[in-house]
Amino acid sequence: MEHIALVDPKHFRDVLGSYPTGVCVVTSRGEEGQRWGLAVGSFTSISLDPPLVGFLPDKRSRSWAQIGETGQFCVNVLASEQLEACQRFASRHDDKFEGIAHGTSPAGLPLLDNVLAWIDCDIERVVEIGDHLLVVGAVRAMERRDEGAPLIFYRGGYHTLAGLEDA
Ligand SMILES: Cc1cc2nc3c(=O)[nH]c(=O)nc-3n(C[C@H](O)[C@H](O)[C@H](O)COP(=O)(O)O)c2cc1C
Repeated sequence: MEHIALVDPKHFRDVLGSYPTGVCVVTSRGEEGQRWGLAVGSFTSISLDPPLVGFLPDKRSRSWAQIGETGQFCVNVLASEQLEACQRFASRHDDKFEGIAHGTSPAGLPLLDNVLAWIDCDIERVVEIGDHLLVVGAVRAMERRDEGAPLIFYRGGYHTLAGLEDA
């Protein structure tokens, strides 16, 4: 069946922007040490048994074109102090890692310093959906830190948790 565009793209973005998300940087590394990463708000947990997570890169993402070839990715969950890293990895900067402190995850992938959590994955499958791809990752290693607040993206702006008393 043909899909008919009934929705104005700006309205679509405005309405969907009312759903708040965290922000992750999805990274990977090439055999010659090249590093790639892109900021995503579409990260989600998918399955516990087996442990699967996913995110949705734009088909035109230059970073995804490289990351997809490596067969692996590391999800870096950003803390509220990491707005600069978020903006860098959402840009088309030539070397997005320049000046961004980072080390290496157990899978050997770029792991940004001070992230709230990280998840090493093998790419389990990639499904084309509209103008995006659904990338499913099989979790190989994961960890979180206890302290810290997340970076939150909502209606085009960045926020952090206010916290509800007694919630
Ligand atoms: C808060 C936020 C969330 C984003 N979420 C996504 C996403 O889920 N999928 C995506 O493809 N791009 C997303 N982007 C845009 C990409 O980060 C950006 O287009 C990308 O880094 C462009 O560089 P590339 O061509 O090297 O991939 C998001 C950007 C921001 C600021």
